[in-house]
Amino acid sequence: MPEFFHVASTSDIPDPGKSLVEVDGEMIALFHVAESFYAIDDVCTHDGGPLVDGELQGYTIACPRHGAKFDIRTGAALSMPAIRPTLAHDVKVENGDIFVRLREAGSGPSGNPASAGPKASIASVFPTQTTDKQEVLASTDENTDASTDENTATESLTSATLSEDIVRELLKQVKDPELFVNIIDLGLIYNVSFSTAPDNSKQNVSIDMTMTSPACPAGPQLIADAKRAVNTHENVEEVEVRIVMEPPWTPDRMTDDGRDQLGIF
Ligand code: FES
Repeated sequence: MPEFFHVASTSDIPDPGKSLVEVDGEMIALFHVAESFYAIDDVCTHDGGPLVDGELQGYTIACPRHGAKFDIRTGAALSMPAIRPTLAHDVKVENGDIFVRLREAGSGPSGNPASAGPKASIASVFPTQTTDKQEVLASTDENTDASTDENTATESLTSATLSEDIVRELLKQVKDPELFVNIIDLGLIYNVSFSTAPDNSKQNVSIDMTMTSPACPAGPQLIADAKRAVNTHENVEEVEVRIVMEPPWTPDRMTDDGRDQLGIF
């Protein structure tokens, strides 16, 4: 079993307060709240943000990069854009000295958030999707009906008078592959503009789209899917998708529908 490492004295960290400490080569965020100490990885599971630099409110730390919140007692991800917990570690205090013992992912004892966190978090973040999938599997007839309805709706969109609203409706068909929420409800589309194609009366569509993080691995797929979705409209000649990172995406950009789908209130 890993050993406890001395990291600080209790008087080093105010209550409430936080500090970055090194434990066996790992950077750990150490918190002091209500006379207790807590330790979690100093890594936001969304895109590696330094959690210890974030704002501490009660038992919640907010990532300074895009605002994901984590419970410092358990490491559980409490809000988008993080969906996975960060690791929580063991802490003990003896004679005014603080010791931390590192845990490995999935090594927590029963009830320890280091292991319970991921399942609890994912289940709470995706309640709707899980239910939907079960219902789809349970009824092929309903599936066929829904698919027919969707096709009819898409057909009417692709022949409707082209406008920004129509483009945004078409883009609702494009879903983030990790979150299963469409890019409109995620708030990824900043701007849609049109210009007439030089050779005919069709329209070139230019879309400014952002990502939930600069290193979002789904970026190329989302761009390709967005182009494909808008290109289905009969009056579209070409689609350009530009990635813009200013202003940076924050969860505030999500629609109420997107929040509902992720169980965020
Ligand atoms: S890196 Fe932490 S919320 Fe994006």
